[in-house]
Order: sequence, then C-alpha cells, then structure tokens
Amino acid sequence: MKTPEGNGSTSSLTGSMAESDALTSLVTDAGRAIDAAATLDELSDVESTLMGKESAIAAARRGLKDLPADERRDAGRAINEVAETITESIRERRLVLSAAEQDAALAADRVDITQPARVPRRGTHHLVSEVLDEIIDIFASIGYRVARGPEAETDYYNFTALNIPQTHPARLETDTLYLDYRGVGEERTAGDERYPLAHAPNEVLLRTHTSPMQARYMEANDPPVHIVVPGRVFRNEALDPTHSPVFHQVEGLAVDDGITFADLKGTLAYFARQFFGPKQEVRFLPNHFPFTEPSAEMHVSCFSCGGSGCRICSQTGWIEMLGCGMVHPAVLEHVGYDPATVTGFAFGIGADRFAMVRHGITDLRHFFESDLRVLRQFS
Ligand code: PHE
Repeated sequence: MKTPEGNGSTSSLTGSMAESDALTSLVTDAGRAIDAAATLDELSDVESTLMGKESAIAAARRGLKDLPADERRDAGRAINEVAETITESIRERRLVLSAAEQDAALAADRVDITQPARVPRRGTHHLVSEVLDEIIDIFASIGYRVARGPEAETDYYNFTALNIPQTHPARLETDTLYLDYRGVGEERTAGDERYPLAHAPNEVLLRTHTSPMQARYMEANDPPVHIVVPGRVFRNEALDPTHSPVFHQVEGLAVDDGITFADLKGTLAYFARQFFGPKQEVRFLPNHFPFTEPSAEMHVSCFSCGGSGCRICSQTGWIEMLGCGMVHPAVLEHVGYDPATVTGFAFGIGADRFAMVRHGITDLRHFFESDLRVLRQFS
C-alpha cells in the first residue's frame, strides 16, 4: 500500500509534524488491517472501522473546524488523501478476496466428468412377449397379417361358429370361465341332461383359445386370408408347473383357392426351423379338433437331448408344440365362405410352451409370478 510519505505533496500538506505522523501511522495500520482481512465479510468490518462514523478519519474531519482558518485547507486535503489511499487499498483487497471466494466456490462445485456414470437398471421384454414377437415376425415375413380380438368372447364365436357341439365338455364350467352377463332373471337354456349348463349364443365368457378370431376375421373379410392372432386365453384351471388359468396362444389361419394339407405341413415346418434352427426335425401326428378336419398336432425333436430322450421331453425325444388342421367346411359355412371353392388350414401355437422349451424352464409359474430374480437371469 502506498503511504503519503514519499509522495511529494503530502508532507507539506499537514499542519504539524505530530499530525503528519498520526496520519502516516494511520495509513500503515490500515494497510495491515486490510491485508489481514481474510474474507469479504471481514473486509467489510475493517472498512467500517477505518472509514465509518467512529473512525479516526471521521474524527479528524470533525476536528478541522477547530483549526485556524489558514491550516484548514491543507489539513483537509491531507485527510482526504489518506482517506482515498485507504479506500483504494480496500477496493484492491476486495477484488483479490472476491476472486479467491469465487475460485473456492467453483472448486467446490466442480463436476468430475471422468467419474463413471450410475447406470439405471433397464427393463427387458418378458420371455413370453419375446416369443410372441418372434412368432409374429416369422409369419409376417411370409405375408401374414396380425389380427387381434376380444378376450371376453361370446359363446357363439368361442364354440358354436367353430363347430363345437352344444354337448362338448369344453363348454362346461369346469373348463370354461363364464362372465355372468345374462339379463337379470333370464334362465339358462336347458341343454342335454348330461350337460345341464348349455349356454345361450350371446353368453359372455373368457375365450378359451384364440380360434374365435378365425370366425370373426372371416366374417369381416373375403378370402384370401393369411393371419396370425396373438393373445391371452383363459381356462378354468389351477396353477401348477404345467398349467395356468391364463396363457398365450398364436392362432394362424390361411384360406384361399386350393390350399392343401401339404401347404399346412410346409408352412409349419418352415416356421419350426426358423424358430428353432435349420436342423430341427418336425413330425405330425393325428389329433382331433371340431373345427379342423383332418386335424393334427406338430411335434419338434427335443431341443435338449436332440431326440434320444430326456426329462424335458418325457423320454420321448419329441415335444408337442401346436394343434393344427384343415379348416372344417362347417366353419367356412358359418362365416359365409363357400367350402366348394376355398379351403384353408389353421393352427394354434402354445406360446408359453415355446418360451419354456427355448429357455429350458420347467415351471410355467415363473412366467406369471414376475419374480425379478427369475426375470433378470434372462435379460
Ligand atoms: N384352438 C386349439 C386349442 O386351443 C388349437 C388349434 C387351433 C387347433 C387351430 C387346430 C387349429 O387347443
């Protein structure tokens, strides 16, 4: 800090030596106090001590009026000079301290851009959804469209339109979950003595398969038809390792001029090899469904043992994957198609079964319990 000493004008401006000394030491002490202030707050305190109403400078200014008139001017100038010197010192110190405080704040706020980020846990598709998507993709790639239908379905579409007789055991409440949708007071239609629960055509139930969409789609669209219908289906079943009251199917339907059983076999064998790999063996065994004739079930050679027999294929070397057959003429008639000019095939894929086989999962319940420890293993 500059002192008035050595400044050519100063010494001559003070009225007496004593006063000059006092001003000089005031400047020196002020310089020390200002330099000692370590923060802006401390500096403000120092400033009010040095320059405020109680300060030596203020007192000296008040004392000017007691000086003889001829000394007053020079003394006043000397005091002002000291005041300016001190003010300037405070200003400089304030700049230094505020720069330091800003640096400290920036250092405290510093973001370490080299620190590895916290990666959020990502969800994945459910195994069954994955399988549904894959099945749809395979059929979409050979020209099939995706259709979807209601889960709450009428007796007519779920059974009657599919040529399922009134007395068929699948209609019983031991197999089918009915939604009580009859008008109040309306009585159930009397059915066969052995099956007292015959239902009205508009009675609402939870669809037991995706096949009702065969009838719904053909009713609304002219042939040719090539569709797959993924969806949830429901049966009156207790949950155990291989059964669930809700599971997933993908229905398939192809109807056109001149479609034969060879088309069915070729299409489904192609699908199985796309899904499981080119070496996959398939076989077709006779079966029965009211809505197809002839009917079959398709098996694939066991992915686990390759056909020699193991626990997963119950020692048979084969795993049943779907039901299929040529669309029954009665079904075509129900939707207004002429069975004399068009034919078709249909199939129903058990998607949960595919997911179990693909991942070697032996308990169906894992799919529905949503235990994250299980799901994470496949993410
Ligand atoms: N709907 C049958 C089932 O749920 C499967 C199937 C569909 C069979 C289409 C033949 C044709 O078991």
